Amino acid sequence: AVEASSLASRMTIGAAVNEGYFDADDGSYSQTAASQYNLVTAENSCKFGATEKVQNQFSFDACDQVLGFAEENNMAFRGHNLCWGVYNPSWVDDGGFSSAELTRILQNHINNTLTHYKGKAVAWDVVNEAIEDSAPYGLKKNTWNNITASGDATDYIDVAFAAARAADPDTLLFYNDYNVASMDGWSAGKSDAMFSMVKGMRDRGVPIDGVGLQMHVGCGYDLVDGVRANMQRYSDIGVQTHVTELDLTCEQSASYDCTWSGEVEEQQGRLYADLLQACVDVEGCTNFETWGFTDAHTWIKGDSHPLPFYDDYSEKKAVAMMMDVL
Ligand code: XIL
Repeated sequence: AVEASSLASRMTIGAAVNEGYFDADDGSYSQTAASQYNLVTAENSCKFGATEKVQNQFSFDACDQVLGFAEENNMAFRGHNLCWGVYNPSWVDDGGFSSAELTRILQNHINNTLTHYKGKAVAWDVVNEAIEDSAPYGLKKNTWNNITASGDATDYIDVAFAAARAADPDTLLFYNDYNVASMDGWSAGKSDAMFSMVKGMRDRGVPIDGVGLQMHVGCGYDLVDGVRANMQRYSDIGVQTHVTELDLTCEQSASYDCTWSGEVEEQQGRLYADLLQACVDVEGCTNFETWGFTDAHTWIKGDSHPLPFYDDYSEKKAVAMMMDVL
């Protein structure tokens, strides 16, 4: 259960977890997740390649373990993800399917998954990382992009959201991407492109409820005001925001030196707290979530100390600094 004095006792604070670690480190992994957070996302096990390895044979066991962990510990469950250009099973990418066949494959995947999880997930990332990283920020080329029946490049995205709403009308439907959190600075272009895409979807009645801002960024990230303004413009059109995959890498980079030290720990904590403050300030920012929670288990390579808890599960300065915000 969430500890009375934890961040999660005050708002929705999430973490991605991996069922492979539930027994890790003498139970510290599960114990920390359950006592500090009130929402979880499966790091990998709910993705297409995990749940439909063979066409139309669904295997939800691993994803169910994460849902089970959430239910046992009174946490919300956030689904990730239903449609992505990478990590598809090879039968999808190498199948040579027509546009009509791919449409049915995508609809079938979403329908089966959301029927299985009906009423269980607060939200789903319906489409993940579809937008190109450079101007003119069109859609990435991937298998799903071959769904272009009406010649509209966003067809597969519309198809995915419509299928998701039909299968589970009560879960919130999100579009999730990276390098889109701030509408200022280096991410302005992709951020604007995503906003236009989402606004267009709303305008033509595509059922999208929110956007996920991933935020795999570095300790020297200095665009918090741009993040707040971006959250606000979504709020203004009635679209929720979730910080979905936050981690703050601390290392020496071309633009700043964040080599780990007591001072850098403080800097990282300040940034975690400032980003949380932005979410708290903007109506419609309804989840603040990190991608993992302990440096002992993170997808970030190297020794860059990205998460709020140390390897030994003790709290970094970030935790107390975030508590001060709430
Ligand atoms: C990552 C996982 O953390 C890794 O374990 C896996 O090997 C690859 O995927 N954006 C996303 C997440 O939306 O699904 C990715 O997760 C990280 C980047």
